[in-house]
Order: sequence, then C-alpha cells, then structure tokens
Amino acid sequence: MTQDELKKAVARAAIDYVPQGIIGVGTGSTANFFIEELAKVKGRIDGAVASSEATAQRLKSHGITVYELNDVGELEVYVDGADEITAHMHMIKGGGGALTREKIVAACSRKFICLADQSKLVDVLGRFPLPIEVIPMARSYVARKLVQLGGQPRLREGFTTDNGNVILDIAGLNIMNPVEMETRLNQIVGVVTNGLFALRPADVLLLGTTDGVTTMRA
Ligand code: A5P
Repeated sequence: MTQDELKKAVARAAIDYVPQGIIGVGTGSTANFFIEELAKVKGRIDGAVASSEATAQRLKSHGITVYELNDVGELEVYVDGADEITAHMHMIKGGGGALTREKIVAACSRKFICLADQSKLVDVLGRFPLPIEVIPMARSYVARKLVQLGGQPRLREGFTTDNGNVILDIAGLNIMNPVEMETRLNQIVGVVTNGLFALRPADVLLLGTTDGVTTMRA
C-alpha cells in the first residue's frame, strides 16, 4: 500500500469518531483525506472549526459550514494528522505551518483523534525538524536561544503563517522529555507556539499499517 492509501484508510476509520454537532478539523494531506470522507457524511454534523485558512476553504468547497472558534466554545472532537507521534501520544506537528491554530483548536477539544500512517510512529521525537512559529522581529533572537538548547534552527524560506509570522524548523533535537521541552520552548520571548503537542497529547491514534488500521491510546 502507498502512503496515501494508508492515509485514506485512517481517514475513513476516523468517521466512526465523528459526533453530531461541530467538530474541529486539522491541516495537511491526511486531514484533507479526512475532509473528503467527512463530505460524504456531512449531514451528520452541523459544521466544523478549521485549524487553517486552507482547511476552511476546503471544508467550504465541500459545502461544510465553517464556524469561528470563538462562537462555538468547546468541541467534542478534533481530528488531525501529525509529523511524528510516540506511543505516549506526544506529537510533533507543524510541517504544514498551521501549528498555532492546531494547538488552539486541540486545546478547545475534549478528544484529539490523530490520523497517521505507520511511518509517523517513532520511539523518540525529533528526527522531523521541530517547527516553531515566531514573531518576525524576534526571529534572530529566538534562533540564538534555540542553538543554546542544542538545536539547528532554519528559517522556512518564503513562508508566512496564517497569523503573519515566520517558522523556524529546528533540526538536531533528541526530545527525550517532550513535556519539559514544550514548556521550555514556550518560555522563549518571541515564540508564539512550538510544534510539540505533549502537554495536550492525542487521545486516540488511528495508525495506518499494511495490515490495516490499528487503534492506539496512551
Ligand atoms: C500541519 O501544520 C501539520 O501539523 C500536519 O498535521 C502535519 O504536518 C501532518 O501533515 P500530513 O498529514 O500532510 O503528513
């Protein structure tokens, strides 16, 4: 099976977790497959909150009503992909640059359903460069602080987030304690969000494998 076929399989499986009402929808290629599946059963939901402008456009193009998070309060479920995930449900996210809105919508959701193909499951986070959203004027300061932490930050060239900020991708981090690292990175002035999702991990991982979809929980 190709990686896309595995992503489609988990996207289909995620439909079982879709409640009535309004759900949170993530960003990226796996989330896009989920939106296609969601469109087939859109009568079941009242609408969605999107974690990016791209996802909002895609939902609307399928006739799914998009709500502002501030107008809906707490969500039952948030469905999104990840760049890396551990068996403890800690994740690296932000490969698509939508990490800040993803973290906000996840924080407002009772249940986080992560969709991933088997290549994303790792023992230790950090091989995938950790994305950090940074206020533009703090870029150089934050980069120096990240070097002090042992990382190799690189500016994501030509990319601006939906919030008007830049992304630094940090290579070379071996993240043995994701909760501590997430907390520490949050303390650097100028950092808007870091791509570690450990303080608010996923609740359920639907993992696409060549043997089928496996369900994992922390
Ligand atoms: C978007 O900013 C990311 O957090 C995505 O959830 C993550 O990059 C996974 O993307 P794919 O589903 O495209 O692999």
